[in-house]
Amino acid sequence: MAATHPLFTAYPVEDFRRREAALLEAAAGVMRGGHYILGGEVERFETEWAAWCGVGHAIGVANGTDAIELLLRGLGIGLGDAVAVPSHTAVASISAIRRAGADPVYVDVDPASFTLRPDSLEAALRGPAGGRLKAVLAVHIYGHPADLEGLAAICQRAGLVLLEDGAQSHGATLHGRRVGSLARGAAFSFYPTKNLGAIGDGGAITTDDAGLAERIREIRQYGWRERYLSAVEGVNSRLDELQAALLRIKLVDLAESVERRQALAARYRAGLAGHPWVALPAVRQGCRHAFHLHVIRSPRRDELMAHLLDQGIPVARHYPAAVHQQPGYAGFAAQSPPLGETERAVAEILSLPLHPWLSVEAIDLTIDALQAWPGGG
Ligand SMILES: Cc1ncc(COP(=O)(O)O)c(C=O)c1O
Repeated sequence: MAATHPLFTAYPVEDFRRREAALLEAAAGVMRGGHYILGGEVERFETEWAAWCGVGHAIGVANGTDAIELLLRGLGIGLGDAVAVPSHTAVASISAIRRAGADPVYVDVDPASFTLRPDSLEAALRGPAGGRLKAVLAVHIYGHPADLEGLAAICQRAGLVLLEDGAQSHGATLHGRRVGSLARGAAFSFYPTKNLGAIGDGGAITTDDAGLAERIREIRQYGWRERYLSAVEGVNSRLDELQAALLRIKLVDLAESVERRQALAARYRAGLAGHPWVALPAVRQGCRHAFHLHVIRSPRRDELMAHLLDQGIPVARHYPAAVHQQPGYAGFAAQSPPLGETERAVAEILSLPLHPWLSVEAIDLTIDALQAWPGGG
């Protein structure tokens, strides 16, 4: 494998450099101010993030995994319950369900958008854990909004709560509405590589349900309603002031950076259209893809990957195994419907380089390398 070509700059560092002076100033302001936990910066970020998503409430927490866990706990979902979730996701989606005490039921994905398939959810409801299903965690994987309309109809009929895992989709929209506002509640991660990334860990929950927001606020800090008095059982999962201050500065660039991701994806689309071994990412009607990752499919993925890596083009698999194929979480597959599309996708996916501040030359270099692939002739 060759060294990474210098055109492929590292995203979180580029993101930092663009706003270096403002970020350093904001960090210094927090440090000088002396209020480090749950102060004005977190409050202001929560207000701004809720407004950005188009909902009434946002609650800052320590990371995206906790955001999912606290959302479930806030809804009273836990031990004995089951949550439908795609197996084609970051393992964190499932680890959070387990932390809440519930079991995952893996649901298959659509081969074009990689998002959860409503007919597979129907199959899960008829399956051995169907009676225990309480919620659906729809993951907007790679930045593509899940089919929330198709899922909502089933959830309503079956009495399930529909939730969003928005960790990869800041800025994506469905019929003009931003993710984070499309279901009962949504969880976000601000891990440094995300579309909106902190300089460390961070996460948030968004919801229009004031009661749910209040319960999650209690749970994130030991279950306190008043200081030192736990009204319910809780944990420690707070977004800290430093990260909130930095996120507020980065949030200013989010709309532009998502547009830039979309423009670079369009360049890939134009440059790779008709390639015999590359299927480009599909975008379902009514959706704006936020392109956290630009994932192609190829039946000759491994050969393509080796070819690109040999030229110093940093490609990767997100992810090399579906969650139900990983030993730590394989046990829950027995109560899940067939996952054939998930398994086919896992063998064919390849993430091409993409971040908002990548040059068009870097994209063109990748396109040229794919077009010049000798195996393609
Ligand atoms: C789809 C998805 N869900 C949840 C998470 C968890 O976020 P975090 O790493 O902040 O805990 C991530 C990020 O890793 C993710 O990609």
